[in-house]
Amino acid sequence: MANDPLLQPFQLKHLTLRNRLMLTSHEPAYPEDGMPKALYRAYHVERARAGLGLTMTAGSAAVAKDSPPVFNNILAYKDEVVPWLRELADACHEHGTAVMIQLTHLGRRTRWDKGDWLPAVSACHRREPAHRAFPKQVEEWDIERLIRDYADAAERMHAAGLDGIELQAYGHLMDQFWSPLTNTLEGPYGGELDNRLRFTFDVLRAIRQRVGSEFIVGVRYTGDEMLEGGLTASDGMAISRRLKESGLIDFLNVVRGHIDTDAGLTDVIPIQGMPSAPHLDFAGEIKRQVDFPTFHGAKIQDVATARYAIASGKVDMIGMTRAHMADPHIVRKIVEGREEEIRPCVGANYCLDRIYQGGAAYCIHNAATGRETSMPHSIPKAAQKRRVVIVGAGPAGLEAARVAGERGHDVVVLEAASDAGGQVRLTAQSERRREMLGIIDWRLARCEALGVEIRYNVWAEVEDVLAEQPDVVIVATGGYPMEDQPAVGHELVVNTWDILSGHVAPGKRVLLFDDAGDHAAMQAAEIIAASGAELEIMTPDRTFSAEIMAMNLVPYMRSLQRPNVTFTPTYRLKSVQRDGGELLAGITSDYATSGQPDQERRINQVVVNYGITPMADVYFELKAHSSNGGEVDYDDLIAGGPQAVVRNPQGRFQLFRIGDAVSSRNTHAAIYDALRLVKDI
Ligand SMILES: Cc1cc2nc3c(=O)[nH]c(=O)nc-3n(C[C@H](O)[C@H](O)[C@H](O)COP(=O)(O)O)c2cc1C
Ligand code: SF4
Repeated sequence: MANDPLLQPFQLKHLTLRNRLMLTSHEPAYPEDGMPKALYRAYHVERARAGLGLTMTAGSAAVAKDSPPVFNNILAYKDEVVPWLRELADACHEHGTAVMIQLTHLGRRTRWDKGDWLPAVSACHRREPAHRAFPKQVEEWDIERLIRDYADAAERMHAAGLDGIELQAYGHLMDQFWSPLTNTLEGPYGGELDNRLRFTFDVLRAIRQRVGSEFIVGVRYTGDEMLEGGLTASDGMAISRRLKESGLIDFLNVVRGHIDTDAGLTDVIPIQGMPSAPHLDFAGEIKRQVDFPTFHGAKIQDVATARYAIASGKVDMIGMTRAHMADPHIVRKIVEGREEEIRPCVGANYCLDRIYQGGAAYCIHNAATGRETSMPHSIPKAAQKRRVVIVGAGPAGLEAARVAGERGHDVVVLEAASDAGGQVRLTAQSERRREMLGIIDWRLARCEALGVEIRYNVWAEVEDVLAEQPDVVIVATGGYPMEDQPAVGHELVVNTWDILSGHVAPGKRVLLFDDAGDHAAMQAAEIIAASGAELEIMTPDRTFSAEIMAMNLVPYMRSLQRPNVTFTPTYRLKSVQRDGGELLAGITSDYATSGQPDQERRINQVVVNYGITPMADVYFELKAHSSNGGEVDYDDLIAGGPQAVVRNPQGRFQLFRIGDAVSSRNTHAAIYDALRLVKDI
């Protein structure tokens, strides 16, 4: 390990970074009142303690009030940020990790109806499609104020004892000045490239006046917008050179692409099924030609690729950001020769999409990430060994088995199918989502190492469970697609699982009715569309795929925007009847007024997606035998204490039910159910 290129230090001016692995800046939306408080600190410290070289904290910490915190950003324009960041930096420094922060003004990449309700500002009036705000175009007094704001914020970061800062210049105000697509200014800040860069160099000079020449300053920027009429790769090279030659900065952090649309963002931060390390060669070319300290990160999920990035000399520091959300202990595992134990990032981008859906970024299969103050990344051993029987080896059951195994319990899993994975295995039938299997395979490997016994092809009845003489029984049997809808003609339809599993072939003219708005519908749609069928995707919701957020939707749109596919929101499947060799679907709408006639569709297949019904018979049959009757004390669960409910003193074991066996939710919810219950068993 001593010669591992990843573990070699990197000298950045006076600062020695102890190895080549970094977190690139990412805002997981953990601030409280705009401040990086206990959770924010705990998140970074967990990764620092495991040996990370550099953490670039925040994502887009706002330098000004008119850069409203559209994804709960740190408010770097407030003086009160200084003590919070000092605490964070001190705590990471104690473990030897360097700490920097990304500062920015979001420009038009925000909304005016957040924060102080100030108008968004940019170098043009054009709106950003993703956030939708029409900005005001900057005036001279804005420019003067904004330069001051950047410098003030940099001074605060210096005062907080951070090792440095980077300025964000891809999709934010700074490169909205750079790009011909977003700079419609005349005069000194518009027109030719030097003018468009003027704002950046004014800001950098103002920052240097405040923080001196020692403090580390870098820029994270796009070296090629990959947009017609935007900044080209040769513009990017010219910008890279000018940044270096200015003598004002210490490193380049290279990005390629644009983030003003969901599709653009997804090419910059690729989701599962997209190529690994797609922009590494591009970053390497900038480093080769410009010869300056260069950082980079984009879908480098595995250690081997990160090692190659450094060993090949393409870049000096390599980001493994989502990889560290999935497993905060990557560096420790490399150092200890335990790389095969690293929990893989499966590229689900649940972390990113959840910011806009529910606030904080959570990892689809590490429920402790973003909950470091309440959920452990390392599971402590239990004081007393117990016999734990788990029914079901889907994501919930396997996480329960893993955590119970880490606790040192004697664990057996009874699985009805011939393999593990449940709905995740069904998801992974799609080539594009095959990486999801990492969620299952990693748990199977951990279970094996921990001595967990998994018995397949066992449809567990009450007697099978009782015969194991358990102390704890956890039912994680998942569910099955709802079968009793539509009320008229449900026996004539097939469901999305039938299509996904390959049990039913797509018809020629298909109506897919999606009442759940989740992945099952879109994945089935991809299969049907690829077969060449005429496909209408209908939903009663205002928009299709209501549960699939921006980045996850991109690959679906890329495969479904084809002439044989149509989308029909706001309509509801009411009935299906046979009509000769075809089917006749009756269609209504929640918006219909009385007397408005139903519509009809003549097709030859109806595929429905009504969500999941829990399948938990064994749980209900076991209740009478258990001490707690299946009851969960929610207060203890939330507070992180052991479950102590006793409803039946004669009961011989505690009984719990988790995941979709309780109610239809998602993979993260199933895994979180398991972790937070079993960590205290
Ligand atoms: C939750 C989350 C928030 C992010 N926010 C920012 C941000 O504010 N600024 C930024 O430059 N990059 C942001 N990123 C992008 C990351 O820095 C990184 O470029 C991206 O995740 C690709 O690297 P990876 O494949 O190693 O994760 C964010 C990423 C994630 C996962
Ligand atoms: S949610 Fe997916 S992409 Fe994000 S860190 Fe977890 S595994 Fe990686």
